[in-house]
Parts: sequence; C-alpha cells; structure tokens
Amino acid sequence: MVTILGIESTAHTFGVAVVRDKEILSNEKDAYSTKDGEGGMIPLEVKKHHEEVGEKIYKQALEKAKIKEDEITAIAFSNAPGLAPCLLAGMAFAKELSKRLEVPLIPVNHCIAHLEIGEITGAKDPVMLYASGANTQIIAYEAGKYRVFGETLDLGVGNFIDTFARFAGLGFPGGPKIQKLAEEASNKDELIELPYTIKGMDVAFSGIQTKLRTLLDKGEDLKRLSYSMQEVVFAMLVEAAERALAHTGKKELVLGGGVACNSRLQEMCKIMCEERGVKYFCPERPLLVDNAAMIAYLGETMFRAGISTDHNHLDQVDIAPRERTDDVEVSWKD
Ligand code: ATP
Ligand code: FE2
Repeated sequence: MVTILGIESTAHTFGVAVVRDKEILSNEKDAYSTKDGEGGMIPLEVKKHHEEVGEKIYKQALEKAKIKEDEITAIAFSNAPGLAPCLLAGMAFAKELSKRLEVPLIPVNHCIAHLEIGEITGAKDPVMLYASGANTQIIAYEAGKYRVFGETLDLGVGNFIDTFARFAGLGFPGGPKIQKLAEEASNKDELIELPYTIKGMDVAFSGIQTKLRTLLDKGEDLKRLSYSMQEVVFAMLVEAAERALAHTGKKELVLGGGVACNSRLQEMCKIMCEERGVKYFCPERPLLVDNAAMIAYLGETMFRAGISTDHNHLDQVDIAPRERTDDVEVSWKD
C-alpha cells in the first residue's frame, strides 16, 4: 500500500490531497482571492496566503482521508512551473513535513499532472487540451517526453476571457459569467465575425480582444459578443487539438484546466472526437482546476517507478518556475 500526500501551490490555489493506491481519499484547497473580487495577483501576497492556510488545509486533507500522519509513505509537491514565491511556499511546507515525518519527497510538474490525472477517467495515452487561466497548450507523450504540440502565442485562454469580462464590468473570474451570458444569447445563427487566429497548432487571442472591446464600446449586445467569442475561441482550441490528434495518430483526448469546465467547450470537443473516432475524457471539475489530487496521483506513479528524494538529501530538490513540459525527464513511463 502506498499513501501519497500531494501539495499544490503553483499559483493562486494552495491544495493538499491524499491518494492511496491510485484512489483519491481527499482533495482540499483554499484559493487566494482579492476582497473586491477584481482579480490581479500580487505574488508575495499569494505566498503569504499559502503560508497562512497551509496547516489548516493539511489537517483537513488528513481528516477527510481518515488517515494519520504516520500513514504517509511519501510527499509529492508541484515544483514547476509557476510563480516563484508561490512555489517556494509549497516547497517549504513539503520539505518541513518530509523532514519531520522522515519520508521521501517527489517534485512534480504541474502541467504533466493535469494530463496524467486523465488516467483516472480511463485515458491511457491521450492528447491533452490544457486550457486554464495562465496556460493554453496541447500536450502529448512522444519519444520519451511530454511534448507541447501547440500553445498560445500570447495570453492563456482563461486570462483572455477574464480580461474581457473585467472590461465588460463582470468581475473575476469571468469564465463562468461569460458562459452564462453566451447561453442566454438569442440569434445564435448570427455569429459576430471575430479574427480566427491559428497557425499550425498555435493560437493567439489579442486580435480578438481588441475587436471585442471595440464592438462593446460601440454598443454591441454583450450576450451576442460572449456567444460569438466562445464559438470562435473554442473552435480554435478544438482545431488545434484535432491537428495534434492527426499528427500523433493518438486515439484519446483528455481535457484539463479551469476553462475545460465550460460546457460548450466540452460539447465541441465531444463532437470532434465522435467525428474522428477518438475517445473523449473529461475529469470532474475538482480535478480540472488547480488541485493537489493530481499532484499526489502523478507523485504515486513516480514513486512506484523509484523517483523520489530521501529526506536526508532535501537540498537536492528545488523549484523550477520556468520549467517547460518537454524539459521533464519522463523516466516513469515505458
Ligand atoms: P494554471 O496554473 O494551470 O494555468 P490557473 O490557476 O490559471 O491554472 P485554473 O484554476 O485551472 O487556472 O482555471 C481558472 C480559469 O478558468 C479562470 O480563467 C476562469 O475564468 C476559467 N473558468 C472557470 N470556469 C469556466 C467556465 N465555465 N468557462 C470558461 N472559463 C472558465
Ligand atoms: Fe493548472
């Protein structure tokens, strides 16, 4: 029996989870947010948040999992990529615990964890459409590494949607609000024309942002704009994912990231997969957004493959804020 404690702290979310033999026993979190809900993250304030809630979330995770500290086999934490102060808070928490409990430490790449949690829904060798606030990437395993086949050339799709929502006075996070407005739009057969920007498997959103703002200033209906924005932007993401499926010959698509909670994006992905004869997988919301369960889950896979650092050698472990997905040595897969 292997019991892994996972810690997530790459950005606004501090999470702690317990995974035992690939089963999620708990998945607790507390996300930093500004009082006015206006978004915007000051990294040092987020770090302070993580330090303040750490102990509480840890206790909750053990309680929910109904386990005691001495049952923990090893500790996995997200060491990359992300905001340095946030990563440091998670690492300090993980190292202290590793020392105190005398159990090994496993550094985990956050983006790859988003992909590998897809295994829990049945995916074995998928292409992942990773659509979150800060990240928009198409990732798949090929020739010994996880490779980024396509990505955003400017903003992450979630940040792009949130920026537009804030401009429209909707507050933060904008994604769910825009989705609701899009659902309420009438005249759905009349799409407002927006720049469709995709090069190979890369996408870009800044042209759309400019156009949306101009149209809103001119008095265009926000519901129609939200609807048209979703149709165009999600079509770009689906096309990029479809190209990666064709390029790699893989037969599975898995979704990841907060924007993947959007039911219209899910629907469009499902349709594309049906048309291509590809299996579609979408983890539940708590596993789509930033969470510690995916860190513990990949941590278990890595631990079982012999990847961990002894608690006496913790100085060998560090954060890697800018680590790229294809920098990671994937020695746990065959
Ligand atoms: P990462 O560190 O992986 O980039 P993140 O912290 O930037 O993650 P997540 O927690 O994965 O982001 O997701 C947050 C984003 O998801 C926000 O931009 C939010 O607007 C967006 N989002 C949440 N629900 C929806 C939805 N229903 N439709 C569209 N976007 C959504
Ligand atoms: Fe994430």
